[in-house]
Parts: sequence; structure tokens; C-alpha cells
Amino acid sequence: MASAKRARYRTEPVPVSVPKIWPAQDGVAEAVAVLRQGGLVAFPTETVYGLGARALDATAVGRIFAAKGRPPRHPLIVHVSGEGDARPLALGWPAAAAFLSCAFWPGPLTLVVDRADRIPGVVTGGGPSVAIRAPAHPVARALLAALGEPIAAPSANRHQSLSPTTAAHVVAQLGGVIDGVLDGGPCAAGIESTVVDVRCIPPVILRPGPIDRDALSRVVPGIVAASPRMGDDEQRASPGLARRHYAPRARLLLERTKAGAVDAARALAADGSRVGLVVYPEDDASSESGALLWRALPCDPAGYGRAIYRVLHELDDEGADVIVVLAVPEGEAWRAVADRLERGSSS
Ligand code: TXA
Ligand code: MG
Repeated sequence: MASAKRARYRTEPVPVSVPKIWPAQDGVAEAVAVLRQGGLVAFPTETVYGLGARALDATAVGRIFAAKGRPPRHPLIVHVSGEGDARPLALGWPAAAAFLSCAFWPGPLTLVVDRADRIPGVVTGGGPSVAIRAPAHPVARALLAALGEPIAAPSANRHQSLSPTTAAHVVAQLGGVIDGVLDGGPCAAGIESTVVDVRCIPPVILRPGPIDRDALSRVVPGIVAASPRMGDDEQRASPGLARRHYAPRARLLLERTKAGAVDAARALAADGSRVGLVVYPEDDASSESGALLWRALPCDPAGYGRAIYRVLHELDDEGADVIVVLAVPEGEAWRAVADRLERGSSS
């Protein structure tokens, strides 16, 4: 009580570290200067915002792990401008890597290949492979071009939290521990890239994402999804496969039917919880929802993917204790959002 009073009447300014927020392309030169000094810069990609450092500077990359609270064995994705910059970072460039990068780069596809010695071990969590992608967002591309070097960048959130799809989301989670954010507006895809291990034949999808298996199979026939029942060793190989990940602060509860979702939400609200309810389609007008924080999303996979993290961030900010989500349909096109919702709801 005494300390609360002291805090209320305190007059001297409280020292806080505030990151610079640079508008879109205008801040690229300043962001490059920060990166060259070993700093951390968050930047937009077409999937989610990344937290970047120079990939070949082991000390700077170490700061990413500290800022996120990320365990050191979780490898990072290295961002490049294109295949020409990716090849020198890999020991070999399998045919599948050549076909997939040609078809989908720049874009939301990450390729796992054998790592060349010049990649510091801290980037790969000490492992023998490295994940590489060429993002499509114009601000990410301008940053990579101006820096002229690869950028290591995980999603710009605290470990196991929701990925950011706006600059404001980044500042809310990491504002005090990074040097700046390039603000490129909301991300177009809204969920993280598809990750494919091309070291094996057939290649394996380690993380479903905006480019689905049907699209990948048209380029590399026979590509397979990672087994949902992976052993501990395989999970360690790609920690993004860990069960709990991509989670809001509120408890996430998945319901198979809309009636089930509405009933569950009402029952929780009646027990005194502050409850978010996420359904589809977007024009669902049945929001006679009383105390529920009701959100209706588009019912196409791309539109839903673009919106889902934003909506979960909003409901967290509105103080939801629990968020009830109507599960998305079965099928390849919905696989990536279904995966994020399942992981976010695992305890
Ligand atoms: O869309 C994205 O991929 C975003 C943007 C910023 O590029 N990045 C992102 O990074 O989501 P992160 O660190 O949050 O997720 C990286 C994923 C994890 O699932 C990780 O396990 C996997 O890629 N990964 C990274 N390096 C790997 C490697 N060498 N082998 C297997 N999986 C790897
Ligand atoms: Mg992440």
C-alpha cells in the first residue's frame, strides 16, 4: 500500500527505453545504420513482423534471443533478397530448393537446407541446417537491399506469444528492448511462412503456412506434411512444431460448431469471465451477444489468416480471460490457420 502511494505521487520521470518507429520506406537508411552497429530492428514482411539483426554477426543475433526470451536451441530464419544470396549460405542447393525458390520467392516460403560454415551457430540453434526465405514485402526488400547482407529474424514477439501483424503489436510486446520498428502497415498474409525441409526426398512441410501443400505439390510432386505425432527429437529439430505456440494471453478454446461455440461462450460469461467469441462468416449478424466480445471473420482462408492474429491481439487488449473460437473447416487450404489455432489452444 505504502509503495503504491509512493508510486502515485512520484514526480521524477520514469526511465523507459522507447524504440524509434520509422514510417515505411523513409526509415530504411536509419534502420540500416542501427543494424550495422549490431542493433535490433523490427520490420514488416508479408506474413508477420520480424525482429531483425545482421545474420552474420553472432553478438547481434544473440540479442534477438535475449529480447524475445527465446531458448537458444530454437533456430532463426535468415532473410535474403533472393536465391542468389541464399545459395552461399547453404552447403548445397537441392533441386527441390531450386524449383520452390523459383516458383515462390519472393514470398511466404522458408526452405531448410544444410548450413554453410559462415552462418554463426547461434542462428541455427547449434544445428547443422539453416532456414532461409526471401520475403516479398517492399519494406523488407528495401531493407535487405540497402543492408546488402542477410538478416536473421524470428517473428517480433515474446517467446510463445502471438506474432505481430502491425508495428503497434511489436511495440506492445518488445518496445523496451529493441532499437526501432519500420512501420509498413498491417501484414497481408497475417500468419507465418510455410517452412519446408528440402534436405530429404520427398521434402517435408515442417510448418503449414500461406503457401499450401497443393500449391507446393504442383511444383514438387509428393511433398509431405510432417507427422502430427512427432517425437521429441523431431520437435527439437524444428521447435515451431512444439505444441504450445502462437498463443494469446487469454485462454483459447476451440469449438467444432457455431452453436457449441456460442453456448460455451455464454456459459463462461455467466460464470463471470470476460469472453471473446470468434466466428465466421464476416457478415454473421447474430451478434446479439450481450456481454460477449464478438468478432466475425471472413470465411476464405486468406481473409481469415489476415485477420485472426489482429483479432486475438484486440481481444487480449480488451481484457478477455478466455477466447472461444469456432474451428475452421477441414482441408489443405485451411491447414495453416487450423494449425495456429490448435497450437494456441494447447495447454
Ligand atoms: O513468416 C515467417 O516465417 C516469419 C517472418 C518474420 O519471416 N518468421 C518466423 O520466425 O515466423 P519464427 O522464428 O517465429 O519461426 C521460425 C520457424 C520455427 O517453426 C522454427 O522451428 C523453424 O522456422 N526453423 C527455423 N530454423 C530451422 C531449421 N534450421 N530447421 C528446422 N526448422 C527451423
Ligand atoms: Mg515465432
